[in-house]
This record gives sequence, C-alpha cells and structure tokens, in this order.
Amino acid sequence: MKEELDFTKKRVTIAGKSAIFQNKTAEVPFYHTEFDGEIFTPALSENTGPTYLGGTFETRPGDVFLVAYPKSGTHWLTYITDQIAKKPIILNKEEYVAIGTIPFLERTLPEQLEVLPSPRYMYTHLPYHLVPCSREHKVKYVVIVRNPRDVAVSQFNFVRNMKIVDFNGTWNEFLSLFMRGTGFGGSYFGWVLEWWEHQEDNNVLFLKYEDLKKEPTKQIGILANFLGYQLFQEELEEIAEKCTFKTMKANGVGSIEENKISLLREGKSFYRKGIVGDWQNYFSEEQLEKFNRWCNSHLEGTRLEFDFG
Ligand code: A3P
Repeated sequence: MKEELDFTKKRVTIAGKSAIFQNKTAEVPFYHTEFDGEIFTPALSENTGPTYLGGTFETRPGDVFLVAYPKSGTHWLTYITDQIAKKPIILNKEEYVAIGTIPFLERTLPEQLEVLPSPRYMYTHLPYHLVPCSREHKVKYVVIVRNPRDVAVSQFNFVRNMKIVDFNGTWNEFLSLFMRGTGFGGSYFGWVLEWWEHQEDNNVLFLKYEDLKKEPTKQIGILANFLGYQLFQEELEEIAEKCTFKTMKANGVGSIEENKISLLREGKSFYRKGIVGDWQNYFSEEQLEKFNRWCNSHLEGTRLEFDFG
C-alpha cells in the first residue's frame, strides 16, 4: 500500500532537529514533509531539504526571493516578476521546476542555483524563519498573501487533484486540518503573521492577491519599482495583460503545466478559477462562523486585513 512508507530511510537529523520527507500520516493525511514538528510541502525532499531546512544555502548580493504560502498566487507573482525582470532563458531548464525562467527553491539543488547569473530570482514557500537570508547581501523578499477562506478552498482542490499529495478526505475534513495548522504547507497564520511582522522592512514588499486582481497595473508598478525597474504605463499594461488568469491559462504558462501536468489527476489544471470569493461555494454557515472566530483570534491587534470578495 502507498501509505506503508519506509520511514527509517526518510527520517534524518538536520541542524539537530528531526525531519521526515514526503510522508503521509493519520494526523496529516496527505504527502508532506515534516521538520522540527512543522509541516512543509513535499517539494522539500531528501535532496534539497537538508540545505533549505538546515539554513546552509548561501545567498548572493542581489538575490530576490518570491515568497508565498501555497495557493496564494505563487505562480502568478512569479510569472509577473519574470516579465518585469526579463531574465534570460535558463540553460537546461528541464532540470528545474520553474515558472518562466524562475526556479522553485525547494525543488532545486543549490549547485544548480550557483550557476545562475545575478541577480538571481527564486520562488519559495519557506516561512520567514527558514528563508535564506544574509546581513551583508542586499537580499529582497516579495511576499504575496491571499485571504484565508480562498486559500483553504484552493488548497482543498489542490491536495485532492495532485497525485503526489493524494488527499482523499472531504472539504470539512480538510478545513479542520487547515484550521488546526496542518494545511498544505503548515500553519496559515503561523506563516502569514511571521512575514507580516516584517512588512515594513526595507527589503520586504508585501502584496495581496486581491489587490493584484483589483488593480493589476498599479500593483505590478509597485513590484517593478521595488525590484529596481522603472516601467512605462504601456509596459505595465502589457505585463498585466500577459498575466491575466485567462491568458496564463490559455498559454499553459510557463512550466506550470509543462513541468507538473503529470502530477495532476486527469482533467485537472493548475489554473482552477483564479477569482476572489470562491469560498462562498464551499463554506456552510456553521463552518464560516467557526472559521471567522478562528481568523479573528489570530488577526486581532495585527492590523492585517483581507478582502473576501
Ligand atoms: P484557485 O485554486 O482559487 O483557482 P499558487 O500559484 O500559489 O499555487 O496559487 C494557485 C492559485 O492562484 C489558484 O487559485 C490559481 O488558479 C490562481 N492563479 C494562477 N494564475 C493566476 C492569475 N493569473 N490570476 C489570478 N489567479 C491566478
């Protein structure tokens, strides 16, 4: 049976802490990686986990990390950034899980990133306390967050549709996991609030999925300025057009489909709906009440607000 993994082979110690890779348990019934009691996506494998969880990845001046809790718009942000920065095509692109020319940190070996020219752009789901950092290097972080109701719905569909994640439960079961801090990628509020504490840092740009949806050109302009690009209005509009849900879906953008299609169940796409407010099709009144109480208990006093559509 699939669930009977040989954990002895997968359990390792990283920086004195216990890690288990690509595991599925009764408590977290989908494939995930666990490190020091925290849940991560199964993208962190035995090959890459020791570097990124162990904090040994060396940054370089100019490095830019595009950061998102899973299903918050990672691919969208990455593709927009790719358009802004017009990075040259990566040689041997097939070695990476990349969007456009930007590689996925957790799926890429450090030696593959070493050969990239500066400034390097990488996307990641790592929490603040584990993301590569450096005091000397001017490393930048662009963080995108999305309202938790739509993230929960998007994750539910994703974990069911991804063969290698393989969640077989109901929406209600997934919602309980999400609220318990065991969503796909760990605790939503643990992740978001830790990054939010740094939203005023000079090297951090905090974006919201809903703002990007409502006023793409303006938000793309903010992102471009943060990255050091001064673009004309027409250029911003052109990028916004290239990066709409419709266009990205029609073009099967980047490698989102190319690289990962085989990981999806038949007929399923990484481009699901791409809207704000799909939660309304999933939450019962009772679920919403409970969810709102849970959200409020985390958001109180943080000044972080979400647009739920
Ligand atoms: P839905 O499942 O709600 O449709 P991530 O890239 O972090 O995995 O996030 C995936 C979510 O972003 C999916 O949400 C996907 O459809 C949505 N998405 C992808 N491209 C988008 C775009 N250009 N505009 C808006 N949403 C987009």
